[in-house]
Amino acid sequence: MSHIRKSFSGITVLDDVSFEVKSGEVHALAGGNGAGKSTLMKILQGVYSLDSGQVTICGTTFNGSVSIAEARQAGVGMVFQEFSLVPTMSIAQNIFMGSEKLQGVFLDKQAMNRATVQLLNRLDVDLHPDTEVGELSTGYWQLTEIAKALHANARVLILDEPTASLSATETQTLFDLIRNLKSQGIGIIYISHRMDEIRQIADRITILRNGRNYLTSDLDSISDEEIIAGIVGHQTDNLSKRESRVCLNDEVLLKLDHLHTENGVENVSLEVHRGEVVGLAGLMGSGRTEVTRAIFGVDRVTSGSMTLSGKTYSPKRPQEAIANNISLVPEDRREQGLFTGHSVCDNLVITRYDECERAGLLSNKSIETLVDNLVKGFSIKVDDTKTEAYRLSGGNQQKIVIAKWLGKDPDLFIMDEPTAGIDIGTKREVLDQVAKLAEQGKGVLFISSELSEMVAVCDRYVVMKHGRTVGELPAEGINNEADLQLAIQHSGTLNK
Ligand SMILES: Nc1ncnc2c1ncn2[C@@H]1O[C@H](COP(=O)(O)OP(=O)(O)OP(=O)(O)O)[C@@H](O)[C@H]1O
Ligand SMILES: [Mg+2]
Repeated sequence: MSHIRKSFSGITVLDDVSFEVKSGEVHALAGGNGAGKSTLMKILQGVYSLDSGQVTICGTTFNGSVSIAEARQAGVGMVFQEFSLVPTMSIAQNIFMGSEKLQGVFLDKQAMNRATVQLLNRLDVDLHPDTEVGELSTGYWQLTEIAKALHANARVLILDEPTASLSATETQTLFDLIRNLKSQGIGIIYISHRMDEIRQIADRITILRNGRNYLTSDLDSISDEEIIAGIVGHQTDNLSKRESRVCLNDEVLLKLDHLHTENGVENVSLEVHRGEVVGLAGLMGSGRTEVTRAIFGVDRVTSGSMTLSGKTYSPKRPQEAIANNISLVPEDRREQGLFTGHSVCDNLVITRYDECERAGLLSNKSIETLVDNLVKGFSIKVDDTKTEAYRLSGGNQQKIVIAKWLGKDPDLFIMDEPTAGIDIGTKREVLDQVAKLAEQGKGVLFISSELSEMVAVCDRYVVMKHGRTVGELPAEGINNEADLQLAIQHSGTLNK
């Protein structure tokens, strides 16, 4: 892609950007939220037109915009940030959607199934082609998406934040697959906000900043600090451990006592005090999200109990949790957290209309002030807050969800992967906000698959394994990811 320019309603989003990926190479595309990564890839894939510039795919040069059909024909495959599969259809039906094999006028199901098995074999996946996609875990959705792209003979594969909803094991499976595809000569464009992943999988990196090329480099000849500074635009300290504070008061806010639920919680006991951040540690699939679902009244409790500020608490639905001053930043907030057709402003104030009310009327002035503060506080990249939320970049949409909940004033915050999709610069700000909540005397239950974030913000850890709590650790003595990793492993064995 050379000298690509693109603007939306007069606002320049890509300004003379050039980018290339070689056959058999993994090229990381990095940059802050709203830098233009997804837009550049949507141009390559034919979803957006370009204003000027040139795209060459596997030797075919397009002067002007590429259409979706042309891009696919030329060999571009994309795995979307939001999946494009139909959950009620089988794997084979999804892969062959739009290119069904026919025998006469009838669908040739057997031939499609055979071809699907071949594709899945190429990916080392053992799934039946008739399996409904809706029954698969997210990791397999992604593999199905990749199989679909390969079926279309992709020579260039675009992965836009592919691990955002994958477990650690699924991520490693994906990386094995990427290595496999690399060896087959496929060029892979890998978008991610996670440094460790870029280091593990990429050969080269290009950083975009505010819609312009900032640098392109081999990963071997660039340091983490240079990459972070390139993305953020200034030097930042690495995530450092927060001064652990003595709990201001001993008040137990939330207590779970031998909790079991209908869905994956198999004996969990823990406490969250006012003024502390409790990290719920453990591998993906250890039942952490399921604990948050129980506290938030989504999953039914089958035995054991919960108390909130000493009183029995047994929510039947999320509204009861909210009425009890509990806030949840859910893991899958892209689906649950946002009204994408509504403006940024509406989305930010929806939880807080009560504060903007003056004598029974909504005060425009107070709405404006509130929204301004949130947009600045979370560096949400938007020119006009009347813009519909779907027009924002993925990470900026996530910031809205977090801002709207953090801005509220509940007693207990539950945060499940609050920084997923958020760029390195803003992660720090989100974590600072979390610490601030604790300092204000709130209780926080915090989950992150990035251990460095846990270390940076938690006062105490509760370790989970197979749906059970298996240990508790103070923050003292845990000063980095390795310490925490080791402690988590150790907790499991101690309590066998
Ligand atoms: N359909 C659209 N209409 C108007 N503006 C848009 C549209 N799509 C993207 N933009 C703007 O283009 C800019 C770049 O967005 P893009 O999605 O490419 O960022 P990104 O680098 O992928 O960020 P993230 O890391 O958050 O996913 C943003 O400021 C965004 O608001
Ligand atoms: Mg994006």
